[in-house]
Amino acid sequence: MRLPVLLRLSGALAGATLVVLASWLYTATPARHATTVTVAPSAPTMRFPAGFYWGAALSGHQAETAQASDWAAFESEVFRERRFQAGEAYGTTRPGHIRDFGRWSEAVRLHKSAFDTHFAEDIAAAGATGLNALRVSIEWARLFPRPDQSEPSPEGIAYYEQLLAAMRAAHITPFVTLFHYVAPRWFFEPDESGRRGWERRDALDHWQRYVSAVATHFVPEVRHFCTLNEPMVYLYSAYIDGVYPPLERRADAAAAADVYAALLAAHARAYRILHATAAARHAEVYVGITQAAQAFAPLRNWHPADRAITALVEQAWNWDFLDAIASGRMRIAASDVDRPIDGLAGTQDYVGLNYYTRVFIKGDLLHPTKPSILMRDPARLDEPVNDMGWTSYPRGLHDLLVKAGRRFGRPLYILENGTSDHEDDDRGRQDYLRAHVRETWLAIQHGADVRAYVVWSLLDNFEWVDGFGPRLGLIAVDYENGFKRTPRRSAALFGAIARANALSER
Ligand code: BGC
Repeated sequence: MRLPVLLRLSGALAGATLVVLASWLYTATPARHATTVTVAPSAPTMRFPAGFYWGAALSGHQAETAQASDWAAFESEVFRERRFQAGEAYGTTRPGHIRDFGRWSEAVRLHKSAFDTHFAEDIAAAGATGLNALRVSIEWARLFPRPDQSEPSPEGIAYYEQLLAAMRAAHITPFVTLFHYVAPRWFFEPDESGRRGWERRDALDHWQRYVSAVATHFVPEVRHFCTLNEPMVYLYSAYIDGVYPPLERRADAAAAADVYAALLAAHARAYRILHATAAARHAEVYVGITQAAQAFAPLRNWHPADRAITALVEQAWNWDFLDAIASGRMRIAASDVDRPIDGLAGTQDYVGLNYYTRVFIKGDLLHPTKPSILMRDPARLDEPVNDMGWTSYPRGLHDLLVKAGRRFGRPLYILENGTSDHEDDDRGRQDYLRAHVRETWLAIQHGADVRAYVVWSLLDNFEWVDGFGPRLGLIAVDYENGFKRTPRRSAALFGAIARANALSER
């Protein structure tokens, strides 16, 4: 999870609009937790619906050997040029840098958590712990390392066949992500008109070739597909904050509207291809995206600017992309971008949410388009934080699930939730998971149709520009000792919840 330091809203947002919006919001915001559920003292166990998925997640580039991808190229450049600078806290890595990257051996830089050589052991461990789902990537760059391939690389296909066979043997249901920020390197070389990546004229044709290969080889062995991981994080980090490749620094989301539109169109195409293949094979697939959803709170609840801008940021960050999939129109909050996207309307079988923490918004009437985004309330600096400086706000997950359920009327999958805690006896993570599983259960009692809860992450892995420092794994990876795995305490706790399909009050 990465948040832009500043979420730049379009200049179209004038002060006058702000005041009107603020007063409207003041009267229109519904009370939270309006419905309450009474849990009888004699019912200490929170049971989940039958067939609930309890999983853990990884992504290809963060946990496996680097492929011929844009990220691998970026990392080689960073290493060559020794661009390792970051501020004191995580989340403050300088654009174009990767925090402490030079500190790690070549094997670590290249193989990350070495999941592709250890998957048999890791999947068996996940199954033995009690997990029944695993979220992994089928990486575009592993199947299509070269632009001229009409067929996917046989080694790539063979690797995923083995991975899926190991999951089958461990009774683990695969949830597959297609685009988790990483694309083949050649995709970012300019085409004849000088456009790169998602803005190439033939971007969707290349994407379609890759998705068709995935469908041909892996449907219906895989039934759950997540086409895009956190498109807003990608858009901001890669095209506005300039910290992920292609390191661009555009003014705002409206200035990256072509990328935004291409991502929506890519999702729609993938949805149709996967469904067409499944229908031809008399099988079912469930296709959606997963959104980085935040609990946004006005820093000063009484302040009209904070309240109005919080609502706007929440709309832009949490809902705009998902609303577009529901309606078929791309609208970017606080801008005049409003265009139809072909074949997009209604292409989500579930709504995926990744949730980590709460952030505070501080508006400024003199600069209404540049709110500050704070990871903590400066008036409450005693609030505990994890290794990455994030607070734990479990109720935010409940509220998001209930809102998303009402807004889209679709099943909900939590495809990431977790925290960074490097201890083996990781009490911070155990408390975090218990509290968030509890809020998930509450959201189900309040009508949200939640079907999956997936922890980020199965293993410690490469946390993008924050490098290898943050430890988000249920299983620790010792990068200095041949990638040795050691399950943390939270793995046993989470496995027990999964096996019982229930959370017991302590
Ligand atoms: C991403 C992961 C990342 C995690 C923790 C999400 O933004 O999907 O790739 O490692 O959050 O920051």
